[in-house]
Amino acid sequence: MPPLMRRALLLVGLFSLLFLLISWGVIAYSLFAPPISSVPDHPRAGSASQCLACHAGGNNAPALPHPTFPTCGFCHR
Ligand code: HEC
Ligand code: HEC
Repeated sequence: MPPLMRRALLLVGLFSLLFLLISWGVIAYSLFAPPISSVPDHPRAGSASQCLACHAGGNNAPALPHPTFPTCGFCHR
């Protein structure tokens, strides 16, 4: 196998491994998210900006313990 080919294959392998590790991490973390269905009459679905507007402070809504993600429903069902 030509050396350039071998280096390219090594890179593809490393990036696949990195991708797998990151997806595993995201899925594992999402399983620990408290479901909003456990709160009686909590507002259902809605865009992430609606969630953030209420959870940004005041309203006795708990603050986010994590960075703001572009979606909330993927983890909080
Ligand atoms: C109108 C205000 C409001 C909006 C909009 C809102 N929430 Fe909440 N949320 C609250 C309040 C108040 C609580 C605390 C309820 C309690 O502890 O009894 C809460 C609790 C939570 C909790 C904690 C649940 C638990 O079991 O600890 C999560 C997670 C959450 N909200 C996520 C979301 C998501 C995701 C959205 C968007 C779909 C959202 N919230 C929209 C007011 C809001
Ligand atoms: C990648 C998965 C994931 C996404 C996406 C996500 N969360 Fe979370 N969220 C979690 C996990 C896991 C926890 C519990 C973390 C902890 O207790 O340290 C949590 C905790 C919370 C809490 C605290 C609940 C409490 O009882 O204190 C709030 C509020 C919350 N998330 C709101 C949101 C909002 C609003 C969004 C959308 C902008 C969002 N989350 C997106 C995984 C996620």
